Amino acid sequence: MTSYKTIKDRSMSFSPSEARERGGPYLVYGTLLENPQVAPSYHKMRIRTPIPYGDIEPGQFLMVRVSEEPFPLLRRPFSIHSLSDLGAKDGSDIEILYKVVGKGTNLMATWKGGKRLDILAPLGKGFSLPTEMGTQSLVAGGIGVAGLFALSQRMRAHGHTCLVFIGAKTKEHVLCVDEFKGLGADVYVATEDGGMGFRGMIPDMVTSFLHDRPNPSGFFACGPVDMLKAVAEIAKSRPIPCQVSLESRMACGLGACLGCVIKTKGKLPLRSKEAPHQGWDVPYKRVCKEGPVFDSEEVDWGGI
Ligand code: FES
Repeated sequence: MTSYKTIKDRSMSFSPSEARERGGPYLVYGTLLENPQVAPSYHKMRIRTPIPYGDIEPGQFLMVRVSEEPFPLLRRPFSIHSLSDLGAKDGSDIEILYKVVGKGTNLMATWKGGKRLDILAPLGKGFSLPTEMGTQSLVAGGIGVAGLFALSQRMRAHGHTCLVFIGAKTKEHVLCVDEFKGLGADVYVATEDGGMGFRGMIPDMVTSFLHDRPNPSGFFACGPVDMLKAVAEIAKSRPIPCQVSLESRMACGLGACLGCVIKTKGKLPLRSKEAPHQGWDVPYKRVCKEGPVFDSEEVDWGGI
């Protein structure tokens, strides 16, 4: 089971070298800087944290304690949307982009700057950055865009070219176009009703786009399972490496409750000659621990 580290005295001051030695995830207090509504039903929260920037990978997530009351009790998981390095001494600013859909997020939408937040971060396994320079395709469906912006930041910093495909039901749900463009990415939008950009589903736009263009070096996708599955098939047909960020209901976020498992392919290795049956079960993996980012070839798409 994973344990977490509490930064000394849970204040904003701590020794960065000590933190690096201990590694995350950290249970810390952060300070809410701003929490504006950025589109109907969507807010973007900026949190100042003592967590070292270098300890956070794009694609990881954090959990925010929503209330001290009995309900909603559990911490809620959110993709780390963007990251700013405050320097070795001061930690990092983390943004989360979230949709207001239930009791917890409705409460969060009322929070104002200055509020102290109880957060657990960074959690899970993030995206692996390509080692060779190339053009990378980032594919985001709906609020999945929240999980790809930090990756785009990191890729651009390393000199990669980014193509960003954003899909949404209507133009009101298209998020972050200007932010991605601000990073120098080429952005393409698909909406189901055709109100903005390509009319139709995002995998169709990606297929159409790549029809007469060279393959990108890799796919990085975040969004609904059907979209991820379709992007995985496009990648496999070319073939291009593809990493997908999966969503799952999460309770603990630390790998302990097994509430977030998905089926993956293959068989687990034998554990011993004496007990050959052990280990040949379906290799379930925890989205919060082994994920949320997986190689698309590893996922049993029929089993999730
Ligand atoms: Fe508990 Fe993943 S949320 S194991």
